[in-house]
Amino acid sequence: MANVKSNAARKNGKSSRRKGVKPPHVNELYEASVQEPEAEFDFLAQVWKERVTRTPAGKGRTLLSVREDFAATALNSAFWVNSGVKAKQERRAIAVDFDPSMIRDGHARAARSIAESHRERLTLVEADVRDEKLLKLPKVDAVLALNFSYWVFHTRKDMLDYFAKVRRAIKPGGLFVLDFFGGSDAHREIQERRRYRRFGGYTYVWDQESYNPVSGAYVCKIHFELKKPRKKWIGDAFTYHWRLWGLAELLEILRDAGFEDVAVYSEKEDRKGEGTGFYRRVTTLPADRSYLCYLVGGVGR
Ligand SMILES: C[S@@+](CC[C@H](N)C(=O)[O-])C[C@H]1O[C@@H](n2cnc3c(N)ncnc32)[C@H](O)[C@@H]1O
Repeated sequence: MANVKSNAARKNGKSSRRKGVKPPHVNELYEASVQEPEAEFDFLAQVWKERVTRTPAGKGRTLLSVREDFAATALNSAFWVNSGVKAKQERRAIAVDFDPSMIRDGHARAARSIAESHRERLTLVEADVRDEKLLKLPKVDAVLALNFSYWVFHTRKDMLDYFAKVRRAIKPGGLFVLDFFGGSDAHREIQERRRYRRFGGYTYVWDQESYNPVSGAYVCKIHFELKKPRKKWIGDAFTYHWRLWGLAELLEILRDAGFEDVAVYSEKEDRKGEGTGFYRRVTTLPADRSYLCYLVGGVGR
């Protein structure tokens, strides 16, 4: 890490000084690198169809309200509200984050991306996801906890408390959707770099900085390297102090929190090994170096 940073710092000093081009904000870089609302809601639509509308009790029930936990800039929530405008459905979202700067950015996003007449369909809440005040809000059809942010909870007790509160926030017959990454690479202190063309080209660096197998403490970071307006290393743009959880233990905690029909969904691949965007319910996964999947728990009727 130290080497990467000092090399980049040196490069910074030598770089050209083109003025007048505003570099992107780190939240914009984060969204462009790791968030994909369309794919998340495609998955939600798929499981909603399979687990709700195709069942006798849920027949014809439309997914309308979602709560996005750890929402950051509320990109997913704004996408959901806007997709409702296109579909002529009154889709609503509650976005929850405890960081006031994220909530501020969420308001700014809503103001620029959602037509004024529909903006009241998005509620931004500055709160811890376990805050009791969330239970006073209207219940929702589905709660989403994406990009592994729920790993902020380090003990089984805290995770159970969070899951149990989420369950109380979901309408009967609704769903809780979380994502998960695992595999042997997840346990290694490694970095992964990806290049993007946006913003004049930049590199996204996912840094699994440290992992302590005894406590499970897992420190991950995101860094960026911009090319324009001049080369710039943005080290430690985001730091996560997580616990590295196992899939089996999370499934157990979801069941202990009262979720029903708890299941894992893995993306089906085509013959070339590319993702198809279609997810299958699975009971086993290959012990690969890395894998991504969704966990889904249902709330009884
Ligand atoms: C990884 S980021 C955002 C992830 C985003 N949901 C996504 O799909 O990419 C995690 C966010 O969770 C927020 N956060 C962390 N712990 C929280 C908690 N206990 N309650 C509410 N927000 C929390 C942070 O402020 C941060 O904005």
